[in-house]
Amino acid sequence: MAAIEAVLFDAYGTLFDLRSAVAPHAARLGDRSERVLALWRQKQLEYTWTASLRNAYRDFDTVTRDALAFALAAENRADDALAAVLMESFHALVPYPDAEATLRALKARGLRLGILSNGTPTMLERLLETQAFAGLLDCVISVDAVKVFKPDRRVYQLGADSLGLTPDRIGFVSGNAWDAGGAAGFGFRVFWLNRAGQPIEYGLAERATTLSTLAEIPAALP
Ligand code: LAC
Repeated sequence: MAAIEAVLFDAYGTLFDLRSAVAPHAARLGDRSERVLALWRQKQLEYTWTASLRNAYRDFDTVTRDALAFALAAENRADDALAAVLMESFHALVPYPDAEATLRALKARGLRLGILSNGTPTMLERLLETQAFAGLLDCVISVDAVKVFKPDRRVYQLGADSLGLTPDRIGFVSGNAWDAGGAAGFGFRVFWLNRAGQPIEYGLAERATTLSTLAEIPAALP
């Protein structure tokens, strides 16, 4: 089997904790915090998938804003000022505590590292601007270059082309099962981060290495 020479990470829900979008606003959202976040994420992803299927790309910032408006309205919390601060938090999500140490450990092994995300270049730049680990990344790749969202194969191809490697030499880490499944179908060596211990789907038991934290990646790499 080919040696893995580079590792690409999904951003949202993988390196960055989506819960940090709503945590600062828990007092205003009250007991709806969890529900708003779940619905926001669900609609955000639904809008990416429907945009791709309709061949009608709208960037991830727009999709995220529309999904938030739906989630707030559905939970009777429609409020422009609240939506604005939630978007601001989404643009400045907090990384998982083990993200930096994991990236440092992989870099120390000589691997090239990158992000492959639905986020726009501006969103990803903003997420990384306060992170010390940004300097460890060799590439930050946005689907915006191909104007279609994951799990379209063109996105994973963009990752392989950006690295100049065949897919079997690229490790791909995602906390999103549907993204991990898409990446495995493309031919990446996939590490599925199943933090919540969810039921296995997309055949990931056979097609991916399942982990529960980012910190497990260095030991799991062949
Ligand atoms: C991303 C979403 C899928 O970062 O989490 O691409």
